[in-house]
Amino acid sequence: MLNNVCNSIEKFLPAVSRVKKFDAGVSKIIADEIKEANLDWKNFSYSEYVSEGVHSLSLYSSNGDSSNTLIKDCTPEPTDVLAKLPKTEKIIEDLGLDLMWVRLNLLRPGACLWEHRDYSELEDKKRLRLHLPVQTNDEAFLILEGRKVHMHEDALWKLNPADYIHGAVNNGSDRIHIVFDCYVNENLENMVRQEVLDEAWIRGMQTPTDDDLNTKLVSALRLYQQDRKKEAEETLLRSFYNYDFTGKSSLDLVREMYYLMGDKDQVGVWENRITRFLKQESFEFLTPAS
Ligand SMILES: [Fe+2]
Repeated sequence: MLNNVCNSIEKFLPAVSRVKKFDAGVSKIIADEIKEANLDWKNFSYSEYVSEGVHSLSLYSSNGDSSNTLIKDCTPEPTDVLAKLPKTEKIIEDLGLDLMWVRLNLLRPGACLWEHRDYSELEDKKRLRLHLPVQTNDEAFLILEGRKVHMHEDALWKLNPADYIHGAVNNGSDRIHIVFDCYVNENLENMVRQEVLDEAWIRGMQTPTDDDLNTKLVSALRLYQQDRKKEAEETLLRSFYNYDFTGKSSLDLVREMYYLMGDKDQVGVWENRITRFLKQESFEFLTPAS
């Protein structure tokens, strides 16, 4: 048993880990400041990658505009939203990170990010993504390598979003994270050297049988036939949060649904998405926040 636990943690450390623990209450300081600022949340950029209910604002962006949330390599400038959050700014500054972009991401109840990889459209530089959970709940998870990981508050978490296909789901109340895209500097290397991962933060998921996947497809086909195509797609995409999809893809189930219905145009759309989401994205396809 102990070996299994250790093997599991060893396997996941390169993908996700806790790299810093703050004093208790740091997340609440940020959450209270955000609440007090009464922010005007914008829809998430990358609209194809998310369900309804995902919102974002930049704290640091390429031009200092908080509504600019389509990330790219840059030396970022603080935004108007950060100016409303002085305690949050101090907490970020004290980390001593080499920032590329910093966003506040809000997932409303039931909201999710479909399975994908990040950074493939960016320059080839050494960078990592960090998450600081500001306000979360026990039903908010990062999904990765067939496991659900709950990132608790008062901590900074490392995610390697380029090398590991991942998604996120929030089945509880509003979830807010600060999401940092950072170039790797000495401070970050030191944090990563002290990374930890506890089995208590990870939940396993079962491998789907062919019957499981066929049942999902039948449910989706019924929705399709009722002209509820978006719901049909989401039924299949949400399988990623219920099953271990290692070696398979929930996106491919959507392509399969359209193939079975003889909708060649949509088969093409989803084949394109499978390539872009899981292998190589291009700026020309990405949509900025509306
Ligand atoms: Fe991601």
